[in-house]
Amino acid sequence: MSLRAIVLAAGRGTRMKSDRPKVLFCVAGRPLLSWVLDAVAGTAPDEVVVVVGHGAAEVRAALPEGVRAVLQEPQLGTGHAVATALAAMGEVGGGTVLVVPGDSPLLLPETLRALVEARGSAPAALLTTVMPDPTGYGRVLRDGEGVAGIVEERDATPEQRALCEVAVSTYAFGGEALASALAGLSRGNDQGEYYLTDVVAALAASGEVCAVPVPDPAEVQGVNSLEQLAAVAAEVRRRLNSAWMRAGVEMVDPSRVYLDAAVTLEAGVRLYPGVHLEGGTTVAAGAEVGPDVFAVDSAIGPKARVWYSVLREAAVGEGAQVGPFASLRPGTRLEAGAKVGTFVETKATTVGRRSKVPHLSYLGDAVVGEDSNVGAGTITCNYDGREKHRTVIGDRVFIGSDTMLVAPVTVGDDAYTGAGSVITHDVAPGALAVERAPQREVPGYAARRPKKAPRKE
Ligand code: UD1
Ligand code: CA
Repeated sequence: MSLRAIVLAAGRGTRMKSDRPKVLFCVAGRPLLSWVLDAVAGTAPDEVVVVVGHGAAEVRAALPEGVRAVLQEPQLGTGHAVATALAAMGEVGGGTVLVVPGDSPLLLPETLRALVEARGSAPAALLTTVMPDPTGYGRVLRDGEGVAGIVEERDATPEQRALCEVAVSTYAFGGEALASALAGLSRGNDQGEYYLTDVVAALAASGEVCAVPVPDPAEVQGVNSLEQLAAVAAEVRRRLNSAWMRAGVEMVDPSRVYLDAAVTLEAGVRLYPGVHLEGGTTVAAGAEVGPDVFAVDSAIGPKARVWYSVLREAAVGEGAQVGPFASLRPGTRLEAGAKVGTFVETKATTVGRRSKVPHLSYLGDAVVGEDSNVGAGTITCNYDGREKHRTVIGDRVFIGSDTMLVAPVTVGDDAYTGAGSVITHDVAPGALAVERAPQREVPGYAARRPKKAPRKE
């Protein structure tokens, strides 16, 4: 028997107070909709259709290959959304139609599989859960053992509102039963919409509708507001971090480690609080990251140490050290054992093996060879107001403190620059380049200075 899945994602998401389609808000770096599609894929459906409407073009662009979008325009409610998808799917026959909301990223594939299985030959099965505070959800009306229907909060009587078992927009329907029940829907409710929830009462009248209770309401928590988005993100973080700890990643405080889903970590990594790793960032075994590191699309090598720093498209080699308070901008590459220390900014720069840039420097469009030392306060003056130019520093070079390297410029292997020099010409290998006025001394100066007026107490 066939299994088709419909994911509801056409709604406006008014309560998010944003123009962005709700299902494109991200948790752990992925849109809500992607999490849902992953869970749906876990049921191995024959076809997946996403109902799009509000922000359709953006939502379509976010769909993976093999997932089809169907436009619902105008959006006349969840029942209308499913009817629109069904019409686009063609003959569904006696197969199963799984309906899942696009805004419930915590749903697990095993729960969806259990739902499909639970339907058996019944016209419908639905996920329910007991919420301590069911505000905003449709309440499940029971009739003995079976489900008699669902009533939306705004249409419910005070007695019905007191019920805590809720529906969570997740259903498995028999295809034919669903099609005929949808045909009978009307808009006689507070919102004037076609409610998918009304299909349940219609099907319950003709056969048993089976409820599949979800023990932990967190799993079926939907996102309707930014507050709920943050709550869902916290749960995703808890799941991801638990999985990484089981895989051998040490976290001093997992509640304060923020990892995108696409991040990869090796066993033996140690993460301190305040670590945000985003995009395709990777961290290799033995590396220690944090406290307080923000890294996007960066690679942190084995046994590296990175703390209180920002890394964007940067690669940190084996045993390299970064921070505290370093900013590694795109194109930074630190080779094994290199160090970029306190208040140092780098961009499009390679620092060779064991070379050090310990304090207060800016290196842009530069290459530093091996075993070189770049003194405190050194700046590559890479920008002449029009164009960027390169600075090349060789192996075993000693750049004196406060050297201005006016690019394009090359400092040869084993060369030195004197502290405070403005280097505008290439420096030959092994040479010392000093550019500064000779020091002048004025003897007895202090004695000649007019006396200061005594300071008032
Ligand atoms: C819906 C359910 C409610 C349930 C709650 C949480 C109905 C009538 N109510 O209410 O019983 O407790 O979800 O699961 O079904 N959508 C469309 N097209 C539309 C309208 C909505 O695709 O015309 C999509 C939305 O994008 C969203 C989903 O359907 O992904 C649910 O819509 P939403 O407006 O969030 O419904 P609720 O009011 O939360
Ligand atoms: Ca000077």
